[in-house]
Amino acid sequence: DSNKHINIVWHAATVTRQRRATLNKHHSTVLWFTGLSGAGKSTLAHAVEEKLYQLGYHTFVLDGDNVRHGLCRDLGFSAESRVENIRRVGEVSKLFVEAGVIVLTAFISPFRTDRDRARSLLGKDFVEIYCDCPITICEERDVKGLYRRARQGEIKDFTGISSPYEQPEQPELVVNTATQPLDICVEQVLQFLKQRGVYQ
Ligand code: PPS
Repeated sequence: DSNKHINIVWHAATVTRQRRATLNKHHSTVLWFTGLSGAGKSTLAHAVEEKLYQLGYHTFVLDGDNVRHGLCRDLGFSAESRVENIRRVGEVSKLFVEAGVIVLTAFISPFRTDRDRARSLLGKDFVEIYCDCPITICEERDVKGLYRRARQGEIKDFTGISSPYEQPEQPELVVNTATQPLDICVEQVLQFLKQRGVYQ
């Protein structure tokens, strides 16, 4: 039913995003981590979040663990499912940003058009961070044993093997998660946030 939203009216909030920022003493934004499975997106997002928390900032990590078990439990890994997964993550991120939170998303988000749609939705609040790690290294690490299973044909549509990963063309930040230690990657992200004026 394409008319189902027709009688819905926006309610103007008196507690605006700006007022939340004043209360919080920092701005909100989305740090959108993208990269192959095993590239270190979640590890990096949680490590950055820990630092921000210690600084007294309001943060939240969105990743497969809290999204694919609930909001997106109806979705798998076909191209259509991934498109819908990333669409929902973009929309939820927008709500969190309105709520004054620094959001860190850790999804493969393999398709450029989907990331670009999230970028359009979030405008200047979208910070794309490419966790650059060659598949050879992800596969060598194979933390979850999924690459081995994908190679054996047990998992279909596996990113990098039987489903594409489209590298970002102009990400705000590239973090070399293959060769740099975690603390250096974290520092790089924090430096970038500071430069952006997200916090002082
Ligand atoms: S996507 O493409 O953005 O919708 O994927 P995402 O929600 O980030 O989920 C990726 C994690 O799911 C596990 N997994 C798979 N990944 C890729 N392809 C297939 N077919 C697949 N099946 C399960 C995998 O553990 C990913 O975890 P990460 O954290 O990326 O290693």
